[in-house]
Amino acid sequence: MDEKVIIEERQGEAVMMEGNVPNGRKLYLESYGCAMNFSDSEIVASILQKEGFTTTRNVEEADVVMLNTCSIREKAEATVRKRLQLFKKQKKVNPNLVVGILGCMAERMKETLLEEEKLVDVVVGPDAYRDLPSLIAQVDSGQKAVNVLLSRDETYADISPVKLGGNGVTAFISITRGCDNMCSFCVVPFTRGRERSRNPLSIVAEARQLFEEGYREVTLLGQNVDSYRWNVSKKGEIVDENIPTTNFAELMEMVAKVNPKLRVRFSTSHPKDMTDDVLHMMAKYDNICKYIHLPVQSGNTEILKKMNRGYTREWYDNRISAIRRIMPDCAISTDIITGFCTETEEQHQDTIDLVKQVRYDYAYMFFYSERPKTLAERKYEDDIPLEVKKRRLAEVIKVQNENSLFRLSHFVGQTQEILIEGPSRKFPDSQLCGRNTQNAMVIIDKGELTKGTYVNVLIESCTGATLFGKVVD
Ligand code: 5AD
Ligand code: SF4
Repeated sequence: MDEKVIIEERQGEAVMMEGNVPNGRKLYLESYGCAMNFSDSEIVASILQKEGFTTTRNVEEADVVMLNTCSIREKAEATVRKRLQLFKKQKKVNPNLVVGILGCMAERMKETLLEEEKLVDVVVGPDAYRDLPSLIAQVDSGQKAVNVLLSRDETYADISPVKLGGNGVTAFISITRGCDNMCSFCVVPFTRGRERSRNPLSIVAEARQLFEEGYREVTLLGQNVDSYRWNVSKKGEIVDENIPTTNFAELMEMVAKVNPKLRVRFSTSHPKDMTDDVLHMMAKYDNICKYIHLPVQSGNTEILKKMNRGYTREWYDNRISAIRRIMPDCAISTDIITGFCTETEEQHQDTIDLVKQVRYDYAYMFFYSERPKTLAERKYEDDIPLEVKKRRLAEVIKVQNENSLFRLSHFVGQTQEILIEGPSRKFPDSQLCGRNTQNAMVIIDKGELTKGTYVNVLIESCTGATLFGKVVD
């Protein structure tokens, strides 16, 4: 094959891609749900770019449209369905348009979307992206195409993701795929399969490459980063005596050592697996950000047991104390579900009390949405009325809003080091935004500053979500 050069539009800059032969077809990718899905879309773009596709941000000029979907709650699925109805209309104008779904809805909805509603031509599960070129070829030849097989070892370790529409400063790196935890409310173990870890050397190589390209922050991604392990079996046995073993704390250190100017973040931590050695490693390196996302889900031990979370309220309280002891300045965020099966008002009150006690910096809060196939769906009745779930959610949100303001107002008057990510959303011509190590968003005047640089900022004011300040020496 001839070595050719493609010019691709990426973040407004022309990017040279060597080694691909253009096939004249344009790929439009849309991602829903978690960061893992956004990261997966970059792997998909890489696989299809090798086949000669160029990416476009304009759906109207696309030849292939792929939606990377989320199944975590019913609402996420409903949003994707609406989008697919729209593409069905576009197909009437352009009958050659290929429409596909990727990700978590693939396994769950393949029959409905392909056969009954005829909304898509191709369905590809999270472990089958390498098969996309042949599946698209199958569609071109007039057939429908499906591959939703889950794998025990696919980590896409050798694929260098193509950055899609990011800011050029912060990037995600997947370190594990799948989940073995089986929280009773959660569909992820069914849609993404068994947990597996990626070779640490490929992770470090990706971080190094990103740094060389100008990126200054990487977020290591996994459903449960604390269970990352390389060369160690689930039972704790060494697999190959000739290569070193790596746990999450060690992996974090390897990435932190790429360069002191590369910030390291990670998500998501699991309370049952987060050990003190992870916390000590965070404390040891300035460039490991002082921010932990530690989903609690409920403040009541009985509900946690029904959720199959593997810890009690006391255990969780102990993990929070360990963070505060080892890193007093560390920010903590969480996920909460209200109205899980059988939750009483007293049990709900335990969640409110926990949120008041921890005073989280940030929280992602949801009401329970029953998901097919999950343990909870099979075992418990979804017995809390929707209005009650929503009312409890509103109560938790109210307390958390006060917490966010409390935490952010503590930064006012302090000087914080900020990594500039790019123009602010509200005033892109005159203001820049960036984050401090605790992940709080800070707005500053643009001046002569450029993205990807670190500046010290005196924080002058705040809202419940944002800090405002001025650059100091
Ligand atoms: N209903 C509501 N929220 C859920 N989450 C996961 N599954 C469900 C569900 N069935 C939330 C959890 C999880 C976050 C990613 O989504 O809080 O931590
Ligand atoms: Fe779902 Fe629990 Fe795994 Fe998170 S840890 S992905 S909530 S099963």
